[in-house]
Amino acid sequence: MAGEDRHRNRSEAFEAQDDIPRSPETGQTLGDVVARRYSRRDVMRGSLGVAAATALFGHKALTSAMANPAPAPSRFDFEEVAAGIDENAHVADGYRKQILLRWGDPIFVDAPDFDPHAQTPEAQLKQFGYNNDYIGFFPLNEDGTRALLCVNHEYTNEEVMFPDLPRQDKDAFFKDMTKRLTEIEMAAHGVTIVEIEKSGEDWVPKLDSAYNRRISPLVTEMRVDGPAAGHDRLKTTADPKAKTILGTLNNCAGGVTPWGTYLTAEENFHGYFWTDDLDSDGEPREGIGGDQVKSYKRYDVPARWYSWGKFHDRFNVDREPNEPNRFGWICEIDPFDAASTPVKHTALGRYRHEGAECILNKDGRAVVYSGDDGKFDYVYRFVSAGTYDRHDRAANMRLLSEGTLSVARFDADGTLRWLPLVHGENGLTEENGFASQADVVIDARLAADTLGATRMDRPEDIQPNEVNGRVYLMLTNNDKRGAGETDAANPRPENLFGHIVEMVPPDGDHAADTYDWSLLVKCGNPHVAEVGALWGPETSESGWFASPDNAAVDADGRLWVATDQGENWKATGKADGLYGLEIEGPGRRTARLFFRCPVGAELCGPCFTPDQQTAFVAVQHPGTDATEDYAPFGRASTFEDPATRWPDFEDGMPPRPSVVAITKKGGGKIG
Ligand code: FEO
Ligand code: CA
Ligand code: CA
Repeated sequence: MAGEDRHRNRSEAFEAQDDIPRSPETGQTLGDVVARRYSRRDVMRGSLGVAAATALFGHKALTSAMANPAPAPSRFDFEEVAAGIDENAHVADGYRKQILLRWGDPIFVDAPDFDPHAQTPEAQLKQFGYNNDYIGFFPLNEDGTRALLCVNHEYTNEEVMFPDLPRQDKDAFFKDMTKRLTEIEMAAHGVTIVEIEKSGEDWVPKLDSAYNRRISPLVTEMRVDGPAAGHDRLKTTADPKAKTILGTLNNCAGGVTPWGTYLTAEENFHGYFWTDDLDSDGEPREGIGGDQVKSYKRYDVPARWYSWGKFHDRFNVDREPNEPNRFGWICEIDPFDAASTPVKHTALGRYRHEGAECILNKDGRAVVYSGDDGKFDYVYRFVSAGTYDRHDRAANMRLLSEGTLSVARFDADGTLRWLPLVHGENGLTEENGFASQADVVIDARLAADTLGATRMDRPEDIQPNEVNGRVYLMLTNNDKRGAGETDAANPRPENLFGHIVEMVPPDGDHAADTYDWSLLVKCGNPHVAEVGALWGPETSESGWFASPDNAAVDADGRLWVATDQGENWKATGKADGLYGLEIEGPGRRTARLFFRCPVGAELCGPCFTPDQQTAFVAVQHPGTDATEDYAPFGRASTFEDPATRWPDFEDGMPPRPSVVAITKKGGGKIG
C-alpha cells in the first residue's frame, strides 16, 4: 500500500491499515492544526508544562478546569509517575516492579537457554513467546499464592528479533525471510500458560508444572464449533470437514470466563495471508477472492504483512482460499488441562477481535463484549442461549457455542441499541448474500453493515465492571474521520487521541436490547483547546493520556487503562503507560499515571490478582514505535542497534517484550 513505508514497525503498519476510503476533503483538520502549532520538536523530550502550553496556545486555550482546581477526591492515592519517555520502565514510588517473564524465558524444564543469535522454532516452542498482550490469572489455591498465568503473544517484530535482518515487508519483497525464520515467528505467536508461585516478594515461574503449555499457529490443533463448523467456506485441503484448525494467531486481548477458562481474541489475521496474484503496482489484483470477493475486500484479505504464505501454502489464498475464514475468531482454552483441545467459537462472529471480556448476567447467561479494531468498525456483544451451572463446568464450556451476536448502534439521544445478527432477520437473507447463520458469522462485518451499526473510532477493549454494573469501551483513535463524519459517540474529527464511552445496561442487565451510553473522557492534552479533551479537573500534567487500548477493573471496581499510541506518541511526548481512571464521585474522569513503558513500547494486559496485591502488566514491543522521534536515539531500531535494551540492558541482548509483576513495597493493595 502506498505510503506504508513511513510506518516504521509492524504494529504501526497494522494500526495504519485501513480498508475504508479516506473521507472527502474537509479543509483544515484538527490534525493539521495540532501538527502545525504543536511542533514535534517541542514535545519529543517530554510533555509541555502549563507555562509552555500557555505561551504556545494562549490563556484561552487552557481549559477552565485548570483555573478551578476544586478538591475532588479520587480513590487512587499513589504518587503519580512523571510523564515522559526514556529507555526504562517506571512505576509509582513505593512500588516494586519485577520482570516475571521475558521473551525467550524457559517455560519447561527442558527448554534451552535463550540465545537470540541461535533461535530455532523448536527452542521457541518451549520458551515464552514474543509481544505479550492479554494476561489472565487463574488461582490454584485458596490464598492465590499459586496460580496459572495465561499470556497472549500477539505478533513479532523481525527487525529487533533476528540478527543481521533488515526490516522485512512487502516493499522489501521479504527477500531475506526464510521458511525457518517464518517458523520461529509462528512459534513466537500464540499463547503461554505457565504456573507461577509467590515466593517472598517475587512471583516465580514453576517450570516443572504439568499445566505449562505453549499454544501456537505452528503446532496446536483447535476444534471449531458454532454455526460455521463444518461449513463449506471453512473447508481446506488439510481439513476437508472444516472441524479442525491448525493454530491461532495475532492473539491480542482476551478474557477470563466465570467457569475458569481463557478466551483469546484473534485480531489482525488478515495480515498473515498471501497471494502471488498481484497487479502492476504489486497489490493484490482487484477482484481476488472469486465468489468471496466481497468478503475478502471487507476484511482486507490478503494483506501480506507477513511472508508465511510464501513458504506455507495454507497462508497463500491462491492455494487455500478458505484459510482466512478460519481466523478472526474467539478461542476458548481450558488452562487446567494441558492436553485439552482449544475451541474456536464461531457463534461470536469473525472480525478483528480486540478482546473478549466475559461477564455472567444476572439471569445466568454468559455475555461477551468484543470490539472490532478497525477504523470505522463496530462494537459487538454475544449473549449465550444457555445459562451457567456452577456444578457443571463441562456444560459451561459449551455456553459460547450458541447464542445471539449483536452489533451496537449509538443514538444521539444517549440510547445504545443492540441489533441482533440473526439469519433471516433484518435483511440478513439469502438474496443479500447470507444463505445461513454461517454466512452471518463468517461475514459479521458485512452483516453489521447491513444493519446500520455505528462506525466507531477503532474499538479496542470493552471492559464490564462487576462492581458498578457498567461497561467501559476504549476507542483508541481514528485519523480518517472527516469533519462531516462525526456523530455523538465519535464526536471529534481527525481523532488522534481517542476516547472512552461508558455503557449502562438497565438494572445491570447485560442482555437488555437497549442501554444508556455517554462519553466518559475525551483523551489528549486538556491544555490545548483544539484537542477538545474532557478530563476531571484534578487530572495532572502527567495524568492525561491518549489512545486507550486495554482496560481492567480491580476488585474494588476501579478502572485502569493501558495506552497504545503507536507512532502518534510524538503528539503527546509521553511514553505509553497504565493509568488509574476514577469513574465514581466528584473525582470522576480524573486520571493518574501509575506505570510508564520504555521508549517504543505499548502497554497491554493489565491484570490484578483478586487480593489486589499484584498487578501484572505486559510491556509489548519495547524499542520499536517511532524511535526516530525519540531525540536521544533518533533512528529506527534494529537487533544490533535498538533504542533500548530493556529489560536486560546487556550488550548484544535485544529489547525483550516482558510481563512485569508490580507489588507494593512491604505489601498491601495496589493503587
Ligand atoms: Fe492488538 Fe487493537 O490492539
Ligand atoms: Ca490492543
Ligand atoms: Ca480488559
